[in-house]
Amino acid sequence: MARGSGFAPPPLLVLLVLVVTRCAAAQNNCTCPTNRMTVCSPDGPGGRCQCRALGSRVVVDCSTLTSKCLLLKARMTAPKTGRTLVRPSEHAILDNDGLYDPECDHEGRFKARQCNQTSVCWCVNSVGVRRTDKGDQSLRCDEVVRTHHILIDLRHRQTDRAFNHSDLDTELRRLFHERYRLHPRFVAAVHYEEPTIQIELRQNASQKAPGDVDIGDAAYYFERDVKGESLFQGRRDLDVRVRGEPLQVEQTLIYYLDEKPPQFSMKRLTAGLIAVIAVVAVALVAGVVVLVITNRRKSGKYKKVEIKEMGELRNEPSL
Ligand SMILES: *[C@@H]1O[C@H](CO)[C@@H](O)[C@H](O)[C@H]1NC(C)=O
Ligand SMILES: *[C@@H]1O[C@H](CO)[C@@H](O)[C@H](O)[C@H]1NC(C)=O
Ligand SMILES: *[C@@H]1O[C@H](CO)[C@@H](O)[C@H](O)[C@H]1NC(C)=O
Ligand SMILES: *[C@@H]1O[C@H](CO)[C@@H](O)[C@H](O)[C@H]1NC(C)=O
Repeated sequence: MARGSGFAPPPLLVLLVLVVTRCAAAQNNCTCPTNRMTVCSPDGPGGRCQCRALGSRVVVDCSTLTSKCLLLKARMTAPKTGRTLVRPSEHAILDNDGLYDPECDHEGRFKARQCNQTSVCWCVNSVGVRRTDKGDQSLRCDEVVRTHHILIDLRHRQTDRAFNHSDLDTELRRLFHERYRLHPRFVAAVHYEEPTIQIELRQNASQKAPGDVDIGDAAYYFERDVKGESLFQGRRDLDVRVRGEPLQVEQTLIYYLDEKPPQFSMKRLTAGLIAVIAVVAVALVAGVVVLVITNRRKSGKYKKVEIKEMGELRNEPSL
């Protein structure tokens, strides 16, 4: 090349040097703020930082949340962290964390039918939770039934005084808007009766505009935050304060309600009965809370139960 010739460098070399410098600059700083389960490199158009989800290698939009399907897929490829199992009680049957390696469509959403590596298949809703019996490869799932209502049931630690409901409401709405980018109109209500807080998210298909964060994705990011497994890159852990008083969560249950009732053969669900199809119980054993920043326990244990209908508990993996 022209190196050492004493002449002005040819334009190509200048260009190369420019490109290299740009890449180096971008490299320092090429990460995905909304998804740490990614691999980023400045090989996007024009040398821009581009991030791909682990597992699927799908390019993700780091200005918003990543879909739960891609996140679960990424999780399947990540090495297991120091998670230990808890002893099942009669009410909560430990499962394998409900993890399976999901199939996602071109938008990163769950496909209606999911199968095990074996020939076991089942139908899921839009948050990836099983809503039918398991079948074989001949099982058909006509559509992804939308989860249009999510009820997050939190129990907070004892405080000297109950929180002011209206302040609590404001803080939780702010949290969902600012941290999870969920449009405030999808936070339908915040109920409070000490020590239980319920956050209701509602979003049906017709209300969801392109670019709107899905309530299922927001709830999943929230769930992982509460477990101390934040999906955000280098972001501070969840820290919710109501008038300066920290909100410390002891237990979380997440109920998913679909537009159509689930179809389990054993079911005695009568029409009109609430279609609670899955419950995620996040019981942080060591009293681990949303707020602990300094001493976060990696080993935060939690239990997960699945409720198909009132009172019926099954020991099969769910989400
Ligand atoms: C990334 O780089 C830009 C400027 O190049 C800077 O403003 C920004 O703070 C950097 N972000 C991080 C996370 O380092
Ligand atoms: C998938 O298959 C494995 C065995 O291959 C089984 O242990 C697991 O429970 C299955 N998962 C589901 C969701 O059926
Ligand atoms: C709760 O706080 C609001 C202002 O944020 C105040 O107007 C209201 O009176 C308070 N309620 C109680 C019961 O203290
Ligand atoms: C969507 O939600 C709105 C408000 O909750 C309701 O009025 C409307 O009927 C719903 N649409 C469908 C198709 O369920």
